[in-house]
Amino acid sequence: MTVRPLRQRAAWTALEAHYAQIAPRHLREIFAQDPHRGERLRAEAEGLYLDYSKNRVTDETMRLLMELATESGLAARRDQMFRGEHINVSEDRAVLHVALRMPRDASLIVDGIDVVAQVHAVLDRMTAFATRVRSGQWRGHTGRPITNVVNIGIGGSDLGPVMAYEALRFYSRRDLTFRFVSNVDASDFVEAVRDLDAAETLFIISSKTFGTLETLTNAHSARSWLIGQLGDESAVAQHFVAVSTNAAKVAAFGIDTANMFEFWDWVGGRYSMDSAIGLSTMLAIGPEGFAELLAGFHAMDEHFRTAPFAQNLPVLMGMLAVWNRDFFGFSTVGVMPYDNYLKRLPAYLQQLTMESNGKHVTLEGTTVAYQTGPIYWGEPGTNGQHSFYQLIHQGTTIVPLDLICFAKSLNPLGEHHDILSSNVFAQAQALAFGRSEEELRDEGVPELEVAHRVMEGNRPTNVLMGEVLTPRLLGSLISLYEHSVFTQGTVWGIDSYDQWGVELGKVLAAEIIPELEAPSDPVLAHDSSTKALIEHYRALKKKEVPHGAH
Ligand code: F6P
Repeated sequence: MTVRPLRQRAAWTALEAHYAQIAPRHLREIFAQDPHRGERLRAEAEGLYLDYSKNRVTDETMRLLMELATESGLAARRDQMFRGEHINVSEDRAVLHVALRMPRDASLIVDGIDVVAQVHAVLDRMTAFATRVRSGQWRGHTGRPITNVVNIGIGGSDLGPVMAYEALRFYSRRDLTFRFVSNVDASDFVEAVRDLDAAETLFIISSKTFGTLETLTNAHSARSWLIGQLGDESAVAQHFVAVSTNAAKVAAFGIDTANMFEFWDWVGGRYSMDSAIGLSTMLAIGPEGFAELLAGFHAMDEHFRTAPFAQNLPVLMGMLAVWNRDFFGFSTVGVMPYDNYLKRLPAYLQQLTMESNGKHVTLEGTTVAYQTGPIYWGEPGTNGQHSFYQLIHQGTTIVPLDLICFAKSLNPLGEHHDILSSNVFAQAQALAFGRSEEELRDEGVPELEVAHRVMEGNRPTNVLMGEVLTPRLLGSLISLYEHSVFTQGTVWGIDSYDQWGVELGKVLAAEIIPELEAPSDPVLAHDSSTKALIEHYRALKKKEVPHGAH
């Protein structure tokens, strides 16, 4: 099927006309005219209930959005992804994170190779290794079992593992300590290991490319620290494993490839938490817990692959995101998990969404004539309510929210959970309906305060609710966001799977490093601002160390 440029699609033109009718309408009025919309504009799949009725949409909007999805070739492109076609055009690669969670009896032949068999071979090796570590059979250099696991990685090789560890901490082995080192700022590494016993510490060096400067710098420091503590270079063998696609670089670093867990170039870094990059997750929650996580991912993949668009959670969320971004022009989305275990979910989703859809050209390389990926950010509720929600309620910028909650707490304690959950419903209500001048006066609010207390409302939210946070539900939730990102990227016609925008900064930093380290003042061939900054940095570096610092 031929897909026309976005702004020439019939559904897009229809949505533009429709937007003009919807934009002036308030959710108060929309709900008053359609009192049962809360029972209709919702969908449920794989244990996740989505209420999208508090978006500024009508049935007609949703119909047109689904038409736009169809006209954008979403079904065909989704099927291309699931078949392993090279939909990552700028890197000429397949995009097959969905293969990472296909069951053992499935098969997917890509370029003559059954990738599902490959995936399960690695899962089996991870399982054997995790079982040995968790049972104490895997011994450190001095014969002691492993009690500390330190994952060293950055971006997709860190955010997934740390988010999953935090999210599933309830299910994790409490006698194992987990740390995650990502920042090249030495403080990250030094603080992570300062109270650890090297004899009981396992480092997982996670890097798809095994060429990322931050990770390699931290890995070298970890190696020196371990050897320094244990006094023997051969200790590296029992205390270092690698997760990577690049065996040659792993070997060059000095890790035996027998202790390497492989994944493949068809897994994007930000889509890799369920590959071998999830080794720390498997060590924490065990192979069975990890299998449940994968089953949750797979169940949502199947829902995305087979459910009609109008009941398809990722399609609904993705198309609502397009509506909010391109028609209303809302430039950010707040993700607020009302579950403290999901505190790193916003950071994880930032990479997933913004590295995927922060693009300015189409698949063909022409500059887009519309807005693409919004800024994602967030904090767990209710903390955010006592900090930045003021702006969300009364500021001049409208921020659509995804509010994520569960009906049951993993730690039931008194009234805590109902208090927490009441805030989800209350926030969505307040954001949609606000408080008018009239209502405030009727409530007897003093005149001086009325204008300040007016809540405009008409601010959209999605509420996503599950029963209780489990490994399976986490898998389904992440898969939902992955496919929502895919849906948006497909409509925008961009490559959601490359990340060229991160390269220039790396190249420039590599040029600047020697200029910061040079013993005598180097010739600086930069713009005047960069030159002055480097000179000032070098001057400050030479100053006498203040008392108490080193
Ligand atoms: O610089 C961005 C990036 O390439 C991400 O896409 C990736 O997740 C991260 O760096 C880490 O890369 P690697 O796993 O190869 O070390």
